[in-house]
Amino acid sequence: MSLLISNIGSLVTNDPALGEGPLGLLADAAVVVDGERIAWVGPAAAAPAADEHADAGGRALLPGFVDSHSHLLFAGDRTAEFNARMSGRAYSAGGIRTTVAATRAAPDAELNANLTRYLAEMLHQGTTTVEVKSGYGLSTEDEARALRIAAGHTAETTYLGAHVVAPEYADDPAGYVELVTGEMLAACAPYARWVDVFCERGAFDGDQARAVLTAGKAAGLLPRVHANQLGHGPGVQLAVELGAASADHCTHLTDADVAALADGDTVATLLPGAEFSTRAPYPDGRRLLDAGAALALSTDCNPGSSFTSSMPFCVAVAVREMGLTPDEAVHAATAGGALALRRTDVGRIAPGARADLHLLDAPSHVHLAYRPGVPLTAAVWQGGVRRV
Ligand code: NIG
Ligand code: FE
Repeated sequence: MSLLISNIGSLVTNDPALGEGPLGLLADAAVVVDGERIAWVGPAAAAPAADEHADAGGRALLPGFVDSHSHLLFAGDRTAEFNARMSGRAYSAGGIRTTVAATRAAPDAELNANLTRYLAEMLHQGTTTVEVKSGYGLSTEDEARALRIAAGHTAETTYLGAHVVAPEYADDPAGYVELVTGEMLAACAPYARWVDVFCERGAFDGDQARAVLTAGKAAGLLPRVHANQLGHGPGVQLAVELGAASADHCTHLTDADVAALADGDTVATLLPGAEFSTRAPYPDGRRLLDAGAALALSTDCNPGSSFTSSMPFCVAVAVREMGLTPDEAVHAATAGGALALRRTDVGRIAPGARADLHLLDAPSHVHLAYRPGVPLTAAVWQGGVRRV
């Protein structure tokens, strides 16, 4: 079956060959979907016929958001911790252990139901590709279980056994790194595409992070890194050195970190929900863009530091607080996320790409930042199937 979507007031293709600027913007456009792929993109007046027809009503059509960083495999919530933080307490990585206890105690069905619910929230806000990390199990059995459940929903699964040192190993961090790089990795690798490590004071240092990423690579996983979130550290430069697809957070960067990101292939992934929810200073996205680094925007959705599933919220905050233009923020939330996942089939609307489409109830993608907090999603197609 083919579908013609016509009367698109403003189309974001993310393909400069198809339209204006880096967003490849096309006015009065049409798109033809054939099965799960995009078959044709161009001016509405030249659109070919199709089996079915949808009228976009002059509104904006974008690629579905690519949320390249989330922690959706968990049970419980941390309302009290958030509440205390908003009364002045500082965020610390140690809060992760609260969620570990709740997650270990939850049956598979509860974890699966939670993941299903948050993925549905995301879909209803225009997100069609989601990366999901483990990291709240911290035992061989619980990490493998998390990834097995996640792999039932997305191809973008990330092994984050190195989130924090498991409570059982509090006095033996080296023993925990041995577990994460040995038995736990072997049990998790079949369900994971990526390996990640929280390289931060209070979590894992540079040497430990290197050991985790190197072992993950040897097991066939691709690296990505939680880097420089809470302070300066070796995470960003280690990510670039090991060819990680992305360095995530990038909140505290030296000039050398920025230069490494600009010169390397590692995408800098900014997570505005984390700074928002921990009341921390935002990273300077403008500085990274001006240096020539590639940017992605993502929710970091997790119960501790960023309990939002909303990419529109992240776009709005990135524009207001991180120095991005609306065009740059939308690009980072779509094409940037795809680059951070090393995917060429999503994050763009061009012939051959997956038909992951987000129709806004607005005339322009700029409304995502101009109308913060307003639900603007009018329709979502995922792989050519209308989902919202
Ligand atoms: O990305 N930084 C490490 N992990 C999460 C926080 C997890 C938590 O607090 O539960 C993050 O912010
Ligand atoms: Fe995270």
